[in-house]
Amino acid sequence: MLKIFKILAIACFALCVAFSADGALADAGKFNKQNYPIKSHHDKLGFDCKNCHKQADPKDYKALSADECLSCHKSYDVLAERSGHLGYDDNVHASPHYPKMDCNLCHRSHKPSQNYCVMCHSQDSMKKILVP
Ligand code: HEC
Ligand code: HEC
Ligand code: HEC
Ligand code: HEC
Repeated sequence: MLKIFKILAIACFALCVAFSADGALADAGKFNKQNYPIKSHHDKLGFDCKNCHKQADPKDYKALSADECLSCHKSYDVLAERSGHLGYDDNVHASPHYPKMDCNLCHRSHKPSQNYCVMCHSQDSMKKILVP
């Protein structure tokens, strides 16, 4: 009799472990490219979640700060030069009143991007600019 209890207890313990591991797996399974697609310009470089998110647990992933994006993209001055062809009025990386904006106000990594400047500046040239 005692032996049966022991076996039952072991079986129960094994099941519990299996279930909790299953739960963790299901959770980890949420944090993949299907649910968090990576934009093509980063995807084609073979980027993984960890290239951007430094937290150990995917549950703690959050938006990157401008400095985190700039750890690869150098500086706003460099970006302003790259988008300099847009001209003074439309250079999204060199606004006179918002010098160090969060990249995330325009570039989204897992959602469609948007041009924050258009909130206030509605000239046609500005409205036409696409945000990668
Ligand atoms: C190029 C950098 C980059 C890569 C690569 C990246 N992310 Fe993100 N992630 C971001 C940014 C920026 C945000 C903030 C929201 C946004 O821009 O869509 C974010 C937000 C998140 C969030 C929080 C979502 C929320 O609603 O607050 C999760 C979870 C996440 N990413 C998961 C992932 C997973 C999983 C991968 C890998 C498959 C991944 N990310 C790859 C930049 C990145
Ligand atoms: C680990 C390095 C790294 C990080 C972190 C990173 N990037 Fe990039 N990103 C690159 C590289 C490399 C390229 C391709 C070369 C280039 O255009 O500079 C690129 C390309 C891009 C492009 C597309 C350029 C085009 O040709 O259309 C945008 C937009 C961009 N990154 C924005 C961001 C933003 C916003 C963040 C922060 C959420 C970020 N990146 C984080 C390395 C990085
Ligand atoms: C006000 C909106 C806005 C903000 C904020 C912004 N960007 Fe951009 N970004 C754009 C637009 C629009 C383009 C496309 C410009 C063009 O057509 O040349 C662009 C283009 C880029 C490119 C590609 C440049 C190229 O050669 O085509 C990179 C890389 C980039 N942004 C990175 C960043 C990073 C990193 C940050 C934050 C430090 C940032 N951007 C902040 C709107 C923004
Ligand atoms: C919350 C509203 C608001 C947002 C968002 C905004 N601006 Fe402005 N901006 C203004 C106002 C108000 C003025 C002053 C009136 C004017 O010249 O139209 C101005 C003026 C300017 C000027 C002319 C400055 C001068 O030399 O006289 C430029 C260039 C400019 N903005 C660029 C940008 C860019 C680029 C962005 C996006 C990164 C942006 N603005 C986002 C409200 C805004």
